[in-house]
Amino acid sequence: MAAKTPPGSLSILQSFRALLDRNFYRDEGAKLGPIFKTAQYHKPAICLTDLALGHRLLREHADSLGAAIQPFTHDVSGGFLRYMDHATHKIYGPMFRRALSRPIVTQSIQCAHEVVRRRLQQVSPAVDLEQQLRIATREVFTRVLLGIEPNSPAYQRFQESFVDIAKRHVRQRLGPKAVAALQQLRGKFRTAPEQVCALSELAVLQGGEVDDIAIDNLLFILRNSANDMSGLLVWVVEFLGLHPEWLEKVRVGDVPDLSARIMKETVRLSRSEYLYRLVNTEFEFEGYVFPKGWLVRICVAEGHRDPRWFPDPDRFNPDRFKNYSPPDNQYSPFGIREHACNGVDLSMMLGSVLIEELAAYEILLSNVGKTKLRFRHWNHWMPKTKVMLRKRL
Ligand code: HEM
Repeated sequence: MAAKTPPGSLSILQSFRALLDRNFYRDEGAKLGPIFKTAQYHKPAICLTDLALGHRLLREHADSLGAAIQPFTHDVSGGFLRYMDHATHKIYGPMFRRALSRPIVTQSIQCAHEVVRRRLQQVSPAVDLEQQLRIATREVFTRVLLGIEPNSPAYQRFQESFVDIAKRHVRQRLGPKAVAALQQLRGKFRTAPEQVCALSELAVLQGGEVDDIAIDNLLFILRNSANDMSGLLVWVVEFLGLHPEWLEKVRVGDVPDLSARIMKETVRLSRSEYLYRLVNTEFEFEGYVFPKGWLVRICVAEGHRDPRWFPDPDRFNPDRFKNYSPPDNQYSPFGIREHACNGVDLSMMLGSVLIEELAAYEILLSNVGKTKLRFRHWNHWMPKTKVMLRKRL
């Protein structure tokens, strides 16, 4: 008998359910099995809620699966790293891994502390924490990626040139004004700045002059990843507010790796959601057909709540990572294989800085327990909580 597509419904109603219910993919997986189909608006998608299956799919059918490209990549010289063709990625993937590695990122740690401290001090009933974390992330990323100090005239000038690029969404192409701004910024970032940063490392790796592919990717990483990061920071505050005993342990100090464990647990519960791929050539997997043109969603968040690997999975417990690193096919918050995230060290550095700076505060939460998602399947769930910070004496 000819193989069929996986069980499930392609009704548009499924699409809306996924946008309204954070447990949609988990519940569908429980009902239909770990491989099922659904719709994302007009597009059919096959979902895998078992992370080990997701790993195997990406390994066994790498040649039939391509990137699920976002339109902005066409404005990036050579394409954005995530969507680059194989030959170009082979050169630039490792280069960016070096440029964003721990020795480079930690050069900005002092600056990150100063920025985050200053931003937390601003929070008040009239000044939203989420907004301050967004600004802090942008300031720290600009330092780490381009070597520009926050609060400097150079930072101000950069923001003015970057604003037209920054305000476009990943699904939008740049307009003429933004294209002109990008062209102008390429000229500015051709050579290494004084500060050690990703740009200076790229200049070393490229033998002096940085090319358009590297500059464009830095600028688009700054635009796209800063949003991902500030969202993660919001969740860090949420969990530490809900579980103040962990912040107390940070305050008391002398607990090795505690900030890193808090980050891993926050990412497990609230920031690793999915990987998307596009089927380029039809194939069969686990007895099901994966038709050409369909999306594949590896449901990472659901895998991270698998009670076989994470007992009492909904509980926030950083100690589950104490002296233990789960294998990749159980815990993959930063992606899989050659296109895995190269911002891990930066994410961990900035998250740890925030946790250490928060130790000076009591976190007061109200309107707890509700989450929101802007109306897109590729957005991330965010808490609706109202947060206030009270300085400890
Ligand atoms: C909130 C924290 C973050 C999470 C959970 C995260 C997650 C991910 C995931 C899952 C992927 C793989 C996507 C795929 O294969 O389809 C990825 C790729 C990537 N991430 Fe992140 N990321 C985070 C922060 C960052 C930061 C801070 C940066 C850079 C400063 C960054 C830069 C990138 C880049 C450039 C890629 C593509 C890598 C390549 O294709 O070579 N990410 N990220």
